[in-house]
Amino acid sequence: MDTKLLYIDTIGCQMNVYDSEQFAKGLRPLGYTLTSSLDTADLVIVNTCSIREKAQQKAFSFLGRLATLKRKNPDLIIGVGGCVAQQEGGRILERMPHLDFVFGTHAVGRLPKIVKEIELKRQSFVDIDNSGGMDGLEPIAVMPSAEDNQSPIRFVTIMRGCDNHCTYCVVPHVRGREVSRNPENILKEIRNLVKSGVREITLLGQNVNSFGKKEGSCSFPELLFQIHDIEDLLRIRFTTSHPKDLSRNLIDAFSDLDKLCRHIHLPVQSGSNLILRRMNRKYKREEYLEKVDRLHSIYPDIAISTDIIVGFPGETPEDFDRTLDLIKQVEYDNLFAFKYSDRSHAPATGYPGKVSELVKKERLEAVLDLGKKYAAKKNRTLIGSTELILVEGFSKKQRKSVLDRKINGRQWSGRTSTNKIVNFTNGRGSESNDGISKGQMIRVQIDKASVHSLSGTVKDSISHAAGNPLRLSAGSLKGGESYVAQS
Ligand code: SAH
Ligand code: SF4
Ligand code: F3S
Repeated sequence: MDTKLLYIDTIGCQMNVYDSEQFAKGLRPLGYTLTSSLDTADLVIVNTCSIREKAQQKAFSFLGRLATLKRKNPDLIIGVGGCVAQQEGGRILERMPHLDFVFGTHAVGRLPKIVKEIELKRQSFVDIDNSGGMDGLEPIAVMPSAEDNQSPIRFVTIMRGCDNHCTYCVVPHVRGREVSRNPENILKEIRNLVKSGVREITLLGQNVNSFGKKEGSCSFPELLFQIHDIEDLLRIRFTTSHPKDLSRNLIDAFSDLDKLCRHIHLPVQSGSNLILRRMNRKYKREEYLEKVDRLHSIYPDIAISTDIIVGFPGETPEDFDRTLDLIKQVEYDNLFAFKYSDRSHAPATGYPGKVSELVKKERLEAVLDLGKKYAAKKNRTLIGSTELILVEGFSKKQRKSVLDRKINGRQWSGRTSTNKIVNFTNGRGSESNDGISKGQMIRVQIDKASVHSLSGTVKDSISHAAGNPLRLSAGSLKGGESYVAQS
């Protein structure tokens, strides 16, 4: 079989990252291998996002630029997947005739069939059918191979769609009703990932708290317990947890499960009850703060992050002040802030009281500034401490080779259990043989802190147990003081 090159451009959230991996796996039996060079590709797939106007524009502008490539190479096949594909369907092909096919968020499993058809018939094709139920929901069953992403951390989508109706949000329209995957299949997938060297997984769903409820399979905390039993898996994260559904059982899971990382993303969106009601978030500011207090009182070391929307229709300066005040009360470890964006099919698009771009911009800056202040404050408290890090790979600077000459040896990167990025070296100045490798758990002494990351030096020397640095028993992580090995 000829080897053909596949280029995937992924825009949007982690769900799209996961789906793009599925695209690559599904197309492998057709002879496609991934390339990072757009110019040499035989097939280009753009996995799109429509959460805000800007994300959608980004997709259209990239797709538009592909026309030049198609003129140069008329045999090139170009496909559009993801949320814009689901939303716009065939209209994308009318607007951009250089594209070959559009496949929606429910058609992931059908992608290989679609590409085969196009290779044979060279006719444009649209598949945004969402009546297929589970089709495309279960991942494509191909064992990971050498060409797969070799990172020790990976996303695993456990449910799709959303049954909430936040009035600003397009997700229920583009991803459909909430469906949870079969727990057995999730466990099988994670076991396979672990066999291939993955040590940390992040479970994905728009509202993980409601996992399995409709299907009557098992609850989210029950699923966490089962995943926790997987040997050689070292860390578990999840996102997103809707504040209205954050249960006592899930809060308790943090103390019962050693592998569950001490971080929770709890999107508040606004600090004003009036706005929260109009967003249909189904919780009040007070209830949200109560849950945060409970989390903080049980786990003083837990990190909390959030999403904030500024300039929702009708948001007054007083409403906005309540948001700032809430941020000050919680002192988030990290926050993501967005200017409200009208989405077709989202009810808030028709709401009166639209806030001007200028005011949205000012409010966004104010939220981001405050967010940075607390992120920096939280990071500073870690200076001098020793943190347990899962080595994810080289640091950004190391990858771009822009290291300061004063840095001793290669610079690696990983995260704390609380999801803070830590860049570090072994401090001994050896370039190629510093004893560090991906997937290891090591203890790093934190020397410096900035808003976005921490830096430090490896404290404990690293053991390559039986020549395999990934062989670290999860039991050794108990109590947080895990891994000490001397070489
Ligand atoms: N399911 C997750 C959020 C998914 S979308 C949850 O409920 O928290 C990620 C974030 O994008 C949201 O938390 C929200 O802050 C932001 N967002 C969604 N729709 C938006 C819109 N129309 N304008 C601006 N931000 C939006
Ligand atoms: Fe959108 Fe709300 Fe569902 Fe999150 S919970 S995906 S914000 S509708
Ligand atoms: Fe975007 Fe779709 Fe994710 S709209 S945020 S890619 S679910």
